[in-house]
Amino acid sequence: MEYPRIWLILSIGISAIVAINAVKCFDCVAQAVRGDKCGERQNRSTSYYFDCATLTPESGDNYSCARLEYKQDGLHKITRSCLINNGDLTCNKLRKISQVKLYSCAICDMDFCNGV
Ligand SMILES: *[C@@H]1O[C@H](CO)[C@@H](O)[C@H](O)[C@H]1NC(C)=O
Ligand SMILES: *[C@@H]1O[C@H](CO)[C@@H](O)[C@H](O)[C@H]1NC(C)=O
Repeated sequence: MEYPRIWLILSIGISAIVAINAVKCFDCVAQAVRGDKCGERQNRSTSYYFDCATLTPESGDNYSCARLEYKQDGLHKITRSCLINNGDLTCNKLRKISQVKLYSCAICDMDFCNGV
C-alpha cells in the first residue's frame, strides 16, 4: 500500500474533535507545477486517486483531500493527497505545523475535490 504523501512532508499532531467521513482523493506529486500532469486539472477517469477510507482501519484517523503547493529542497512542488483530518484541520493550522513553506493550500471533504 502506498502511504499518503503528505505524511512525508508534514508533522502530525491534530487532535480529534469532530469526525469527518473518508473520501476519495486524487493522489500525485510533482516537482514542478508547470509541465506536469499533477499540476493540471485532474480527471477521475485518467488520474490516479486513492480511497482514504482504506487507511482508517489501520490508523484510526479520518481524512480529507488536500491540494498543496510548497517549497521543499529548493523546489516548488505540488501534492494532491489524502490528509489526516480528525475534525479541526485548517490551512492556517497546517501552515503552523508544516515543516515546509506552503505556497498554497486547499483542504476539502468531497470525493475528488482536490482535482482543480
Ligand atoms: C473518525 O470518524 C469516525 C466515524 O465518523 C468516528 O467514529 C471516529 O471517532 C473518527 N476518528 C477520529 C480519530 O476522530
Ligand atoms: C476525462 O477523461 C476522459 C477520458 O479521456 C474524457 O472523455 C473526459 O472528457 C475527461 N473529462 C474532463 C473533465 O476533462
